[in-house]
Amino acid sequence: MRRRNVKNAKARIANHLDLVIANPENLKGKWQELFSNNNPIYLEIGMGKGKFLLEQALKNPQFNYIGLEKFESVIVQAVEKIAPLNLTNIKLINGDAEKLNEYFAEKEIKKIYLNFSDPWPKGRHAKRRLTYHTFLERYEKILDGDIEMKTDNQALFEYSLQSFNNYHWQFLDLSLDLHHRLNDEVIITTEYEDKFIQNGKQIYFIKVKKEKN
Ligand SMILES: C[S@@+](CC[C@H](N)C(=O)[O-])C[C@H]1O[C@@H](n2cnc3c(N)ncnc32)[C@H](O)[C@@H]1O
Repeated sequence: MRRRNVKNAKARIANHLDLVIANPENLKGKWQELFSNNNPIYLEIGMGKGKFLLEQALKNPQFNYIGLEKFESVIVQAVEKIAPLNLTNIKLINGDAEKLNEYFAEKEIKKIYLNFSDPWPKGRHAKRRLTYHTFLERYEKILDGDIEMKTDNQALFEYSLQSFNNYHWQFLDLSLDLHHRLNDEVIITTEYEDKFIQNGKQIYFIKVKKEKN
């Protein structure tokens, strides 16, 4: 995502500390307490401006949603869109997926969404791809459920298929053209997805689950 310099992003985020959790490490193992219920927690990693997360949370009050986004300049746009709605089933973290195991306890998360993750096409940047094996190990620890991934990027999709396969994740579902298969009205789209669809690009989708050892 191209990051523009957003004025006073840090201060604007700090106005909404009920929504954006300042010290997520302190909530490790206690997220359901924060939500005051036992509902499953769904996590979107690299949530960008938050359209997908917000629409999921509005549609599914029976689930809790957490959005993780690395950059202040990006998350601030999600914060200012979501905060006025005062939803009780949505929280945000301005943090890095590298720290997932500091934020969440074992099996605390029921589903992970990876939507249009940065493809990092250069081989020397492979470690930054959110389906690099070090990330899969982090996901395995915190997850008691599945991962759903959408991308327009064929190279990232193929890389991810191999990575999931090599580290013994089971394929539960797969589509090479998600919007052709499903009626567009049933798909909750992201900001990036809307642009790609407008440009006629196909969207790749996989759903995976770690095989039991
Ligand atoms: C290409 S954008 C897609 C945004 C959104 N998911 C969408 O589909 O519209 C990828 C997002 O992931 C975020 N991101 C990349 N690596 C991350 C990491 N390690 N931890 C948290 N966020 C990350 C980026 O800052 C960026 O906002």
